[in-house]
Amino acid sequence: MIIKRYYLLFTLALVWSCKNQPEIPKKTQKHGLITQKAMVVSAREEASKIGSAILEQGGNAFDAMVATELALAVSFPYAGNIGGGGFMVYRLQNGETGALDYREKAPMAATKDMYLDSLGNVIPNKSIVGAMAVGVPGTVAGVFEAHNRFGMLPIETILKPVIALAETGVVVTKQQAERLAYFQKAFAAVNPKGTVLDGLWQENDTIKYPALANTLKAIMSNGRNEFYKGETAKKLAAFIQEQGGIITEEDLARYEAQWRKPVSFNYDDLTIISMSPPSSGGIALGQIMKMIEPYNLSEYGHNSLQAIQVITEAERRAYADRSFYLGDPDFVHVPTDSLISAPYLSRRMADFSFEKATKSTDVMHGSVEIIESNETTHYAIIDQFGNAISVTTTLNHGYGSKLFSQELGFFLNNEMDDFSSKPGVPNAFGLLGAEANSILSEKRMLSSMTPTIVEKNGKLLMSVGTPGGSTIITSVLQTILNVHEFGMTMQEAVDAPRFHHQWYPDYIRMEPGVFKDQLKAELKAKGYTINEENAPVLGKVDGILVLDSGALEGGADYRGDDTAIGF
Ligand code: GLY
Repeated sequence: MIIKRYYLLFTLALVWSCKNQPEIPKKTQKHGLITQKAMVVSAREEASKIGSAILEQGGNAFDAMVATELALAVSFPYAGNIGGGGFMVYRLQNGETGALDYREKAPMAATKDMYLDSLGNVIPNKSIVGAMAVGVPGTVAGVFEAHNRFGMLPIETILKPVIALAETGVVVTKQQAERLAYFQKAFAAVNPKGTVLDGLWQENDTIKYPALANTLKAIMSNGRNEFYKGETAKKLAAFIQEQGGIITEEDLARYEAQWRKPVSFNYDDLTIISMSPPSSGGIALGQIMKMIEPYNLSEYGHNSLQAIQVITEAERRAYADRSFYLGDPDFVHVPTDSLISAPYLSRRMADFSFEKATKSTDVMHGSVEIIESNETTHYAIIDQFGNAISVTTTLNHGYGSKLFSQELGFFLNNEMDDFSSKPGVPNAFGLLGAEANSILSEKRMLSSMTPTIVEKNGKLLMSVGTPGGSTIITSVLQTILNVHEFGMTMQEAVDAPRFHHQWYPDYIRMEPGVFKDQLKAELKAKGYTINEENAPVLGKVDGILVLDSGALEGGADYRGDDTAIGF
């Protein structure tokens, strides 16, 4: 009895300590960069450095957002962009929260069946490669909108170091050299005039971006309208149309970033603030967290059999809803409050049992497999004033549609592929899409991007997010749980092995070689299918954690070239 009581006390103490973030990581814990005032964590050291330098000059998180986003367009053209779009969630020093949607839009001439042939079949690759795949870009509008509302420094001060980076060039990393070798054929197939990235690049080579520097200079001089109504807009629309696309000058002129109300919900003593539609991220994250909240994850243990079962079953149910209900809120009604309400989610989990896996065929709605690209990028910023932002931005696939304007110096997105090309009927990959995400003129395509900010007892705790297509939501989820339930540092939380379930296909994707054989055998015995082949990397998470002392700890994912810089 006594032993049992002590065990209970010990367990309670452990649970309590996990849910109370230690002020300074314990000696045995691995931690990321710790700074006292401000930090930027992004996919490239160059971008984090430029963002952090803007903060050091007295800029705030929104000034640093403009700098970091555009520096990623130069240093990480794989996903960083001015030819794509993104989402930003913010929390001001005074606790006010909000979100900015600068997601791409379908061109005005877009139609529901624009990717179908005369027999109604999906034309392979038409929404993926080349000019027809391009959505109206939102990034330049997004960063200017954020700057107009909240920025402090002149736009020239912010853009000058980015332009200098494009002119002096960016050193190729090992990962980048490998990626560039892999993509050469794809660049050649789409760009008869070539791209700035053509050639055999080695690690430590330097790539200069003079055309992009010129475009950024024109934007610096003439503002956001240079991209949407000026010379750059004219050249961009003409280029896309020459290549067979349908984006017009009017499409560019009509583009506006939209302020949105973020999705906000509680989990224990945390408040999670995440991206609302047209991203599915915040709602799906809310559904999963509310479904698992009644279970004692910290008692089960990190990546234990029971923890994986509960999380997997909640993910299965949330992704089923995601596919059916979510789309651009300017075009479809999204029942956000109902979807994240506790009674609804408790009913969703009513048939869950630790005894055996639920089959996805027994979970409504429909048989929708979500396949999305992994090639997005995320950055987190907390400034010296206490403002926090979380931003995820993308071209969709790596280098987007692969279409590159030699004159303007940047790649264009293939975000049109995030629409359901043929709702209700399997496409070329055997996938079904939902009506809520069908193509319409000027509609925004559904996303999984999940830039997220976490409060604890009303105070800022974390800014976090990741690339990873449909695995974004579950990677953000696990990172938050790793800190809150399992007492990890930010760096440990980011580095920890991840798994993912998305309803269909009905298997748990696991990072290969990091989960124990016995655990996998136990899951299989309960009826789960494990897939380690389709999951070389589940997200590249970047986050910043506010420690009790007020200091900041960065978590920069070891899986990429990600780097935290601050002061
Ligand atoms: N293109 C990936 C996403 O928006 O989720």
